Formats: sequence, structure tokens, C-alpha cells
Amino acid sequence: MAVEAEVADHYTTGGLFERIKAALKANGVDPETATPKDLKPVDEFHIGGVAATSDLLNQIDVKPSMHVLDIGSGIGGASRFVASATGCTVTGLDLTPEFVETAKALGKMVGFDGRVNFQAGSALDMPFETDSFDAALLLHVGMNIPDKPRLMNEARRVLRPGASFAVYEVMKTNSEDIDYPVPWANTPETSFLATIEEYTTAAEAAGFTVIATRNRRTFALDFFADLRAKLDAGGPTPLGVHLLMGETRAIKVKNMVANISSGRIAPVEMILNAT
Ligand SMILES: C[S@@+](CC[C@H](N)C(=O)[O-])C[C@H]1O[C@@H](n2cnc3c(N)ncnc32)[C@H](O)[C@@H]1O
Repeated sequence: MAVEAEVADHYTTGGLFERIKAALKANGVDPETATPKDLKPVDEFHIGGVAATSDLLNQIDVKPSMHVLDIGSGIGGASRFVASATGCTVTGLDLTPEFVETAKALGKMVGFDGRVNFQAGSALDMPFETDSFDAALLLHVGMNIPDKPRLMNEARRVLRPGASFAVYEVMKTNSEDIDYPVPWANTPETSFLATIEEYTTAAEAAGFTVIATRNRRTFALDFFADLRAKLDAGGPTPLGVHLLMGETRAIKVKNMVANISSGRIAPVEMILNAT
């Protein structure tokens, strides 16, 4: 199977929208009247959840008149958050059909029709015209993409000159192999971690200037410690990103925390500017 088909297969767990609705009900929320905030435990599929998205967004200037692209938008949590926080329009693009369908259904459920749109497609061959967007986001996607130069070239192509590109990626922080499975891959065959230097080289070659880089290791470890404490105190909650991770969810999270704790990987922010 080609890499992209394998990646989409990895993220497809089946019946996702129905399982999210059932988990909302189990949480005491009627899906008919659910708000965007009610979805936060499940719809931000990256380390740190909505706090991480908010921290990233605070570093770029997004105005209500802007059209923002969310590359690898998953089930759309970051797209909806950015649209709500800034009043802008967001288009989310993702490889996994079940995620795109779920993102659309969730958006409709919480009243986002129109201002946030989702479509299926690859970050390496985006179905958009040159200079289409005023800003872009990339949250925890590049680790499934082997060709970082092509990813950066495509992002640069669809962004207008002067646009911000806010990146929040799991990156390699030493040369040791990591433990699998992890949330983005069951084996090394679909995991393509790169270093900050490799992201920087690809971004600069594509025509971006690096404005800021921030390693979020401590933030990540605090986030997982807090999650652990909540689990220990109250047991698992029905609604969470575990719904997106299939049968091996517990070992995936355990390995990711161990990989970060041991210094092999870390989530890293990069704020880029299209020249
Ligand atoms: C860990 S999830 C993160 C989703 C979302 N950015 C978030 O933070 O909630 C990784 C996402 O990247 C998408 N993805 C992986 N490779 C991709 C590619 N080549 N093009 C578009 N999306 C891709 C997957 O389908 C998946 O939805």
C-alpha cells in the first residue's frame, strides 16, 4: 500500500461520528444542542489539545476577513477554534475520508455551516490555486509525510506573500529510535519524524522565513501528567481523543509519553512567514 493510503487506513476506526455522539450523550450533552466547546475533549488531536492551538494562534495575526487553511485538519477542532476565536473563514484539508466526513458532520452539528469547510485531499498535492490563503496551520501532520520539502513547497504555493504559516509538529530531538505504536503510526513504515533543522531547511528552501521556534517538551509533559492525574482521580471519560486511536490507544499514548520523557521526540512550534 502506498504511504498515503496506509496513513488514511491507520486513522480510520469506523463509525466515528456515531461514537462521538454516543460519548457526548454519556457525558450528559445532547448532540442536538452541543456547542463547539463540548467537542474540545475529542476534536483537537494533538498534544495539549485546545491550549496548544490557542498558544499557536496567539503568535500569528488572523483577521476576520482572512481565509485560513488548516492542513491535515483531522476532525476539525483547530479549524473551528480558529474560526470562532478570530471570525475568519477556515478551509480544512485532510487525507482521511472518515475524518473529513466527521469534521463536516460535527461542524454542522454545532452550527458552523459556511464559515468552516472541509475537503479530502493530500497536503502534497493540494486542490487549491496558488496564493489562495492568508494564513495556514499544520498541527501534528508532518510526521506522516516523508517529503518535507514538497510539503513546504505546497504550503508556500497556496499562501499569498506575507502570509503566516503556524506549525506545531512532533519532531525528532535526538537520534535514538522511538517506541511504537504511537498515535500517528503503528510502525516506522508510516512515521517520518524530522528534526527542527530539517523542517527549517525545507521551510527556507520553499520561501519561508522562520520567525520563531519553540520546543514544547515541558508543556507536553505537564499536559500528560495532568491527564494522568485526572484519569487516576475519576477514571476514563467517555469523550476523548481515545475515540480516534483504535484498540491500541493505551499503548500508543504510553509510548508517546515515554518517547517524549526520554528526550527522543518533542512537540515543537514554528512560526513561518511566506516571503
Ligand atoms: C494526529 S492527526 C492531527 C489532526 C489535526 N491537525 C488536529 O490537530 O486535530 C494527523 C492528521 O494528518 C492527516 N494527514 C496525514 N498525512 C496527510 C497528508 N499527506 N495530507 C493531508 N492530511 C494528512 C491525517 O489524516 C490526520 O487527520
